[in-house]
Amino acid sequence: EQTGKSGYDHYMLKEIHEQPTALRQGLSGRLDELSGEVTVDELDTVATPETIHFVACGTSYHAALYGVELFREAGVPAQAFLASEYATGPAPVPENGLVVGVTQSGETADTLSALREAQGRGAVTLALTNVVGSTAARECDHALYIRSGPEIGVAATKTFSSQLTALNLLAETVTDGATGSRDLVAALRDIPGDIQQVLDETTAEEIVDEYRDNESFFFIGRGLHFPVALEGALKFKEITYEHAEGFAAGELKHGPLALVTRNTPVFAIVTGDGERARKTIGNVKEVEARDAPVVAVTDGQSDVERYADHVLEIPETHPRTAPMLANVQLQLVAYHMADRLGRSIDKPRNLAKSVTVE
Ligand code: G6P
Repeated sequence: EQTGKSGYDHYMLKEIHEQPTALRQGLSGRLDELSGEVTVDELDTVATPETIHFVACGTSYHAALYGVELFREAGVPAQAFLASEYATGPAPVPENGLVVGVTQSGETADTLSALREAQGRGAVTLALTNVVGSTAARECDHALYIRSGPEIGVAATKTFSSQLTALNLLAETVTDGATGSRDLVAALRDIPGDIQQVLDETTAEEIVDEYRDNESFFFIGRGLHFPVALEGALKFKEITYEHAEGFAAGELKHGPLALVTRNTPVFAIVTGDGERARKTIGNVKEVEARDAPVVAVTDGQSDVERYADHVLEIPETHPRTAPMLANVQLQLVAYHMADRLGRSIDKPRNLAKSVTVE
């Protein structure tokens, strides 16, 4: 059944649980496990760009920030712009560049307007979208479909995960495999199962009660976990109506730390045991020293648990796919907190699924 809630209390929870299926659909026929290659027919005619710009809004902008990192790793200069800011002055459209509109619906007015501006200035455009035949898909030179299936809940969940997956496919394809490796293909193949494991084993529902009286929540992460920290906070504020902010972990000390108290729970994403994890743990210690409750979202490879009041575990995976697993835990935190608080989860006040005005 495509449009019913299939026994879930809300579309959002149903869509969170649909993520393994959504990602399988998005990857189907696009990964060649034997050769370790990615093949996406829609991208056959897209040349390797000299520069790439992403334009997007809301959750899709967070996906775009993740995409930027993938291209930078491959040596292609990349930038993400909030679509509403792209054409406020003379748009910085790159010559011989590719401009990618990341838009689930393909109908967001700000994103369409940024793409039109880019097209008018001679850029090649690509729509990364869920909706076949959407305005973005029709107007852009190319379209890459994320194949998430319909999303009814206003708060984007499965489409964000599908966007991150598709951005890996895009980066692999247009840079001729310069961004990843056979390990990445294996990790992408396993990601639907890993997400299922998170869904089956999560303890998100159990920890939210402790924080239901708090009114301000922070989310921190580094590198590819930074966009997920932003997304975790956005999801949380959209549906709980509580104040939430996401920060790059290293920025805490440049201002936000002034807000950290025993009343501000901090969700920290830490995976692996490398330099980034070590530095983020340093930031976790800073908030712990101010008595803030800490919830670590971690794969257990570091000792972050020592500094955390609660742990939300994710399986070990590739550094590119770890953010997707962390994000699922944060989706569940937002959902269960909003549910405890009795909020209108599928249709939060003042928000629309697709915003068709600038
Ligand atoms: C609205 C929705 C958000 C979404 C944003 C961009 O604000 O409430 O969930 O992220 O639009 O939507 P798009 O369809 O362009 O991805």
